[in-house]
Amino acid sequence: MSTILITGGTGTFGRDLTALLQPTARTLRIMSRKPAPPDLPANIEWAVANLATGTGIDDAVRGADIIINAASDSGGNTHQADVVGLQSLLNAAQSHKISHFLHISIVGIDQMPFGYYRHKLDAEAVVSASVLPYSIARITQFHSLVLNILEPSLKIPGAPLRIPTDIQFQSIDSREAAAQTLTYLHTPANGRLPDIGGPEVLMLGEMAQTLLDARGDSRPIEHTLTPDPKVFWPSPEAIEAYRRGLNTTPDHCCGSITWRDFVT
Ligand SMILES: NC(=O)c1ccc[n+]([C@@H]2O[C@H](COP(=O)([O-])OP(=O)(O)OC[C@H]3O[C@@H](n4cnc5c(N)ncnc54)[C@H](OP(=O)(O)O)[C@@H]3O)[C@@H](O)[C@H]2O)c1
Repeated sequence: MSTILITGGTGTFGRDLTALLQPTARTLRIMSRKPAPPDLPANIEWAVANLATGTGIDDAVRGADIIINAASDSGGNTHQADVVGLQSLLNAAQSHKISHFLHISIVGIDQMPFGYYRHKLDAEAVVSASVLPYSIARITQFHSLVLNILEPSLKIPGAPLRIPTDIQFQSIDSREAAAQTLTYLHTPANGRLPDIGGPEVLMLGEMAQTLLDARGDSRPIEHTLTPDPKVFWPSPEAIEAYRRGLNTTPDHCCGSITWRDFVT
């Protein structure tokens, strides 16, 4: 029976992968920097490892057949975790003869001037240079990420929602993205898989209005290029790339859970 290691198994996407795979008879192993929770199900193994420091990686990989790499440190240590640590993970995968290294990436990273995305692109290059059977799955933003972008600006009751209304997203429900990704689990592409995009391309202004309507919130939405400084927004150049929809993949619409479904 094969053992599937999910790095980032505690994250948004990794939790969805785990939930989808767990009912099958496979053994799953979650890699995390944190200790195992006390209520770990019987068919889930836990490996404490840190991609940024390299600790625990070899033990995490030993005995696994497939690795889904859904770990990413978007919070500042990205190069060390996502690129340097990834190389260590691939080295361990090679020495333990992994049959498929399935790497999770993001649509449009080769065209968008965004620091995190540059590291994600470097990570793809590291994976592509590996001699392992591998696949790279590029996915558009999750619905939950767009919600996280909008939520902080809604904290002050009644205050106008000031956002760049004309930037585009083709967001996807992370569970549907996980289900699509898993269709490739046993078939390494040795390259990029078809992009995985959400069911529709929408402007952020439309998305915000749908969210406000769903919550019965009548505050106005104001277009701005200088959004709330308390909320993380990328540089003006990156915002322009989102405006041009370089983060979308309209020819690869997947899933049926729309933004409206997600927020209502
Ligand atoms: N969020 C999106 O909208 C989106 C869209 C498309 C693609 N993606 C990609 O999908 C993947 C998963 O994203 P996500 O949103 O699920 O991420 P997330 O919720 O932020 O979770 C990140 C995961 O990475 C792990 N991690 C971070 N630093 C680590 C380190 N130094 N060593 C080991 N593990 C580390 C964390 O584990 P612990 O904290 O337990 O150690 C956590 O499980 C990423 O590759 C991301 O680029 C995300």
